[in-house]
Amino acid sequence: MARSLPDLQAVVSEIAAEMKARPDRGKVADYIPDLARADASAFGMAVITGDGEVALGGDAETPFSIQSISKVFTLTLALGMAGDRLWNRVGREPSGSAFNSIVQLESERGIPRNPFINAGAIAVTDLILSGHQPREALGEILRFMQFLADDGSIKIDKAVAASEKRTGFRNVALANYMKSFGIIENPVENTLGVYFHHCAIAMSCRQLAMAGRFLAHSGINPATGHRVIQAQRARRINAVMLTCGHYDGSGEFAYRVGLPGKSGVGGGILAVIPGTASIAVWSPGLDDSGNSHLGRIALEALTRRLGASIF
Ligand code: DON
Repeated sequence: MARSLPDLQAVVSEIAAEMKARPDRGKVADYIPDLARADASAFGMAVITGDGEVALGGDAETPFSIQSISKVFTLTLALGMAGDRLWNRVGREPSGSAFNSIVQLESERGIPRNPFINAGAIAVTDLILSGHQPREALGEILRFMQFLADDGSIKIDKAVAASEKRTGFRNVALANYMKSFGIIENPVENTLGVYFHHCAIAMSCRQLAMAGRFLAHSGINPATGHRVIQAQRARRINAVMLTCGHYDGSGEFAYRVGLPGKSGVGGGILAVIPGTASIAVWSPGLDDSGNSHLGRIALEALTRRLGASIF
């Protein structure tokens, strides 16, 4: 039975107003030039409970670039396709280094530490691509997002994808380096093409919280009762989100927020209160680890006020 959250809308509105007023907003990512256009004053939050209550605050309906949050959904899809064979290509330990780091690949046979650092997510995308045309694989990923969010209007921001393609030299290096170990099977440009485009999916907090519902409810979409994935798989994806979802900031996020969560350099964070709610926050300014500065602070405030940490 899903736990209900009293005064949820009041708490979300209060936190959104507090976040809007704060002067400390972090730094908007600019290594993907198109992301630098984001409005640093934006803040949005959406909380969707198992019984269908939707609480929105601030800019909860404004689409933003989900970037690395897409890695949760590609991991889910790839596990559905390859099952536990996926873990032969990608580990599930925190890396303790930056999201785009290459150092561990050399001594670890080209096997990325986890599916959420860039190297790991590129290897996961390569698995989804196997035997398909890039366009088909991308269509599969986008349709999966639309299905989970129950919203056919979700799109890829092609300008963001093109912008990353022009400047994503590190990802090109990571993919080529992994290919030299046989971890990447498809032509590097095809795998990266799909990766850049799924990172460029644009969604609002409300759409993202909708898409995350199955993770909060043991693999089931609570609105329809349909099972998206097995309960054990949902639990394990949440475990990897908790330990690796914020890169070298994962310990700090677990300490302060106490929920499984996944960040993206567009400033979004998807988090779940297992058994209770799916949450998305967005504020484009980032901290030093590339995670949303106010997004984390807002989630910390939310779990404190609702008493919702998993610990
Ligand atoms: O590959 C990249 O660098 C971006 N497309 C995604 C990185 C990202 O979102 C890191 N998250 N905080």
